[in-house]
Amino acid sequence: MALVTGDRRIVAQRIASQDEEHRPFGGVVPEIAARAHSERLAPMVAAVLADAGMSLGDVDAIAATAGPGLIGGVMVGLVTAKALAMASGKPLIAVNHLEGHALSPRLADATLTFPYLLLLASGGHCQLLLVRGVGDYRRLATTIDDALGEAFDKTAKILGLGYPGGPAVERLAATGDAKAVPLPRPLLRSPEPHFSFAGLKSAVLRAKEAGVHADADIAASFQQAAIDCVIDRTGRALAVAGEVSALVVAGGVAANKAVRGALEAVAAGHGLRFVAPPLALCTDNAAMIAWAGAEKFARGDSDRLDVAARPRWPLDPDAEPARGAGVKA
Ligand code: KG4
Ligand code: ZN
Repeated sequence: MALVTGDRRIVAQRIASQDEEHRPFGGVVPEIAARAHSERLAPMVAAVLADAGMSLGDVDAIAATAGPGLIGGVMVGLVTAKALAMASGKPLIAVNHLEGHALSPRLADATLTFPYLLLLASGGHCQLLLVRGVGDYRRLATTIDDALGEAFDKTAKILGLGYPGGPAVERLAATGDAKAVPLPRPLLRSPEPHFSFAGLKSAVLRAKEAGVHADADIAASFQQAAIDCVIDRTGRALAVAGEVSALVVAGGVAANKAVRGALEAVAAGHGLRFVAPPLALCTDNAAMIAWAGAEKFARGDSDRLDVAARPRWPLDPDAEPARGAGVKA
């Protein structure tokens, strides 16, 4: 829950983490997530308003994630926002979670202008998007199987590092040799634009089962293989994107320093600015949803109180489906 102003101030913000509840299961359990949302949201509203020294009447609009994602938690959040909007008479703004990530770099950086090329890498998505304006996205690439964050999480599970896995893999990788374990780089230099990480994950499993490599070397080699894929695909997207103001990364995996460093080098090689949000704005947070709401509010957007929660909600409705089963649009 966050209160954000149109001039980029995060007035108050609280995160009610559910990691402890999900940890025993090694991933998010949808029913636990929905129940935890319904237990915690109402007290969070009061707490964040108190932190800010404000009342609901002082707020201009109420934004909430309306999808895509595990539908139970999304519904609880959206219904809470609808109740607040109805009680206060303020406009409701339904925000696409991916749009929250896509615009999050502009919350921290007032100079970031459209259009920019965005790598959006989270636990559920891995996309290259041409961000042309608020609500105006062209998807240049997506994953045909696993998301990048998912590959980090599965590697963490294989190495017994627990949940959530990305930060743990990054820490262990920093102590290992990235050249020690030969791992595949799926779709490297492929003429098709997309990502693929499932084969890399399987190779990590085989490397672990072989029992000859140190876990730190597996983590470091995995991270490097993933980064090599990301760099290759991003370079390809830059070649077709046209003129952009910057190369931008957002989403949970953008918190990874090795990933950020590699992308910064790609940007420099193209004579481009590189923009990444501060670490706290990379992983899921309410400020980015409030900010996306503020950007939409500034354009005069609002939604009806019967707007539906959406388990799937592509940012670019015109994007061609990518080949492969279980594609996450
Ligand atoms: O955006 P996010 O917080 O939630 C989703 O919308 O999915 O992204 C979470 C994902 C997880 O897969 C997590 O392991 C990954 O981001 N992640 C990282 C790091 N921090 C979070 N992956 C690699 N290195 C990190 N430091
Ligand atoms: Zn996210």
